[in-house]
Amino acid sequence: MPSLDSSLIYPGLPFTSRDLLAPMEGVTDPVFRSLVLARQSPEVLGGTYTEFLRVLDRPRQPIEIERMLGPRSPGAPVGLQLMGADLGALGGSARIAVELGVPLIDLNFGCPAKGALRGCAGAAQLKDPAGLERVVASVVSAVDGAIPVTAKIRAGYDHADDVEDLARAAESGGAAMLTVHARTRSEGYSPGVDWSRIARAVSSVAIPVCGNGDVNTHAKLQTIRDETGCAFAMVGRGALGNPWIFSGETVSAAEQARFLSDYADAMRHEGAEILGAAARVKQLVKHWMLGTLIPDESTRLELMREKDGAALLTRIADLGEVVRG
Ligand SMILES: Cc1cc2nc3c(=O)[nH]c(=O)nc-3n(C[C@H](O)[C@H](O)[C@H](O)COP(=O)(O)O)c2cc1C
Repeated sequence: MPSLDSSLIYPGLPFTSRDLLAPMEGVTDPVFRSLVLARQSPEVLGGTYTEFLRVLDRPRQPIEIERMLGPRSPGAPVGLQLMGADLGALGGSARIAVELGVPLIDLNFGCPAKGALRGCAGAAQLKDPAGLERVVASVVSAVDGAIPVTAKIRAGYDHADDVEDLARAAESGGAAMLTVHARTRSEGYSPGVDWSRIARAVSSVAIPVCGNGDVNTHAKLQTIRDETGCAFAMVGRGALGNPWIFSGETVSAAEQARFLSDYADAMRHEGAEILGAAARVKQLVKHWMLGTLIPDESTRLELMREKDGAALLTRIADLGEVVRG
């Protein structure tokens, strides 16, 4: 465990700053992550995680874990996020991750997808704090101190009354940090979030808490700390609409267009067809900040409706006055 390294931003955790990028399945793949990490220095973006890797009844293979991680680059760490309920398979996957040099493991207790719930994984485990503790403890024991294990929860399953119990369960299991997405499973991703639930988790444990939920401006990275006392802050959808949210810099339309164009190019390099790459770009356009590259909602709608992938990318380049090669 690298807890004795005094250069670390927080003892026992490999993060390079206290602002983190959230794992988002279908979006924060190695391509997206590397574009963001390349644009945000480790001093401002402290680390991130892979999208969840679902573990069923046997450990995931090294190649599957490598696929989630993508090419390694120096700088802020990328942890592996696992989700599952089979303790042996989770522990086995965690041990393989250690062998592959993964710097930390996160456990997903928040995924609201039906598939996860049916397998008693993800958010289903919020109904059973003792079970959640067992999952954390078994992975902590499997990695045997080699790397930290963190946990990510929602504030509850269909109410937030037990957020303290859930936080204490993660801590008792040995989690080195707890991320709290302030919504419950039943609140999904609905607008509005109650950060006081994060504050309640903070006051019930000694481990660092990472606050998450609607941190969608640079200023809110500080506000969430001030209001909840959380040590770390995690940005999800806000980073899809503004990959520079961590530094808070103002970015020109040309630079924004370049990001989207580089994203499409990298997806195509990975083998995506133009339509597939354009669909991924649209996922970002849907959240993209308005005002510079995309001036208003009607331009966003126009881009979202464009069915021709090449035309979409040309239109974005035109908006940013970037010449595509
Ligand atoms: C498209 C999408 C995919 C997500 N996938 C994951 C995931 O793989 N693992 C996870 O722990 N959370 C996942 N989440 C939840 C986010 O990490 C985060 O907790 C949530 O979006 C709240 O933060 P925000 O309000 O800043 O977006 C996902 C969210 C979205 C929108």
